[in-house]
Amino acid sequence: MSRVRWSADLECGVKVLDLQHQELVAIINAMEDCLDCGEFQLELSKDVMRRLASYIVFHFQTEERLMVGHKVASKHAEAHRREHQAFADFVSKAAGRLEEGRLREQLPALSAYLHKWLLDHVTKTDRQLAKYIL
Ligand SMILES: [Fe+2]
Ligand SMILES: [Fe+2]
Repeated sequence: MSRVRWSADLECGVKVLDLQHQELVAIINAMEDCLDCGEFQLELSKDVMRRLASYIVFHFQTEERLMVGHKVASKHAEAHRREHQAFADFVSKAAGRLEEGRLREQLPALSAYLHKWLLDHVTKTDRQLAKYIL
């Protein structure tokens, strides 16, 4: 999978979310860059996963506060939170495996999954949230 290129197709129109999504794209692109880093690949990918794990806590909190503030229907808010939780669990497990020195062979698949999750979530679920805010 190639690097994600930020474009208007990824915008949801809420400034704070678009800026945070750009940072997530940068982190996920850093993971893609790791794949070309030869023997340093594993160490660099651990750093990237740490950055991702910490940034998604901050980002998901931002969105979840907006859901409360803008009175998003509980059905949508719950489904959105579940997507966040499932992704946070996945990232935390993958980060743990990388720390143990496992997953080296699966790095391309991991990078592709992060890329796909972000594009799907931002263009569907987060865009739905933006409709409540705008
Ligand atoms: Fe979200
Ligand atoms: Fe988001």
